[in-house]
Amino acid sequence: MYRDVFGSEPSVVASAPGRVNLLGEHTDYNQGLVLPTPLPYQTFVEASAAEGLEVYAENFGELKRRGLEEPRQGDWLDYLAGCLWALRRRGYQVPGLRACVRSQVPMGGGLSSSAALEVATLRALRELYGLPLDDLDIARLAQEAEVEYVGVRCGIMDQMASSAGRLGYGLLLDTRDLSTRLVPLPPGYRVAVVDSGVPRRLAESGYNTRRRECEEACAWLGISSLRELSLADLPRLESLPEPLGRRARHVVTENARVLEGARALEEGEVERFGELMVASHNSLRYDYEVSTPELDRLVEAELRHGAVGARLTGAGFGGATVALVEEAHYEAFCKGVLEDYPQARFL
Ligand code: GLA
Repeated sequence: MYRDVFGSEPSVVASAPGRVNLLGEHTDYNQGLVLPTPLPYQTFVEASAAEGLEVYAENFGELKRRGLEEPRQGDWLDYLAGCLWALRRRGYQVPGLRACVRSQVPMGGGLSSSAALEVATLRALRELYGLPLDDLDIARLAQEAEVEYVGVRCGIMDQMASSAGRLGYGLLLDTRDLSTRLVPLPPGYRVAVVDSGVPRRLAESGYNTRRRECEEACAWLGISSLRELSLADLPRLESLPEPLGRRARHVVTENARVLEGARALEEGEVERFGELMVASHNSLRYDYEVSTPELDRLVEAELRHGAVGARLTGAGFGGATVALVEEAHYEAFCKGVLEDYPQARFL
């Protein structure tokens, strides 16, 4: 593709995957615990060194150019420009990038197509300019690009999953210190990602409201982050004004579920892991209030048709669900779910 657009071969080809989160939702901006896994879908960046940005996006059939000093424009090129901005802010000499981008990660479904693009771009830049960056540096730079340049207030789960995750493993990540542990996914089971067919509505404003509510809960409790609380503190949360108590309760119980879930996977207790996924969904539905009637119906259909666990995944407000299904039941599962929920799209 690069050759067709620019008439020569690229110097490097880099890639990075999208992710699906198995457990630990809305915890990463509360210094909490998450358990995502990379998807077998990647974003590819074929690239060469250049002055300024010149990028072709195959998914949009669009070529865009931009000087490094030009401001962000609210388009897809911002993600690449943000990576260069984040590197240059740290003092790295990176004059620009000529690239061709192709993504297999579905966009706008909560599967971190933006993190995949950022991580793939930073990997390409690392190779092109010989930058001394490890997986953690890449994840941090990618998050800086997204939060400070693109302007989306996300946590660091997506960028870490894309940069440090491994196919076939859950990445147990403590967002307080970025320590990680790889947890093998159970053999004979499939991680089914099923889109609800409903675009995420009000996701950004809803996400920012939830973040603010968590900050308010901390202010009431006189703590700096909800991570300071454990299950033993749940009774204290009852004195918080509505809905802050329920928001905080979700975060505290979700952190506990992630730890218990990682243990369950490591000890081969797949059914227990499934129970925790369902408990997570219910907590997101009733305490955190980021589910939708469609996501609830889809999760119920998945459970009815043999999933050992299912839940909404990502920020919520629409988008995708994740379910754990025995490989041998997968076909019957898909058929049954489609009968009950015809708009379901299986990834
Ligand atoms: C989005 C954000 C993540 C995380 C999830 C909710 O995907 O990008 O950082 O906060 O929502 O768990």
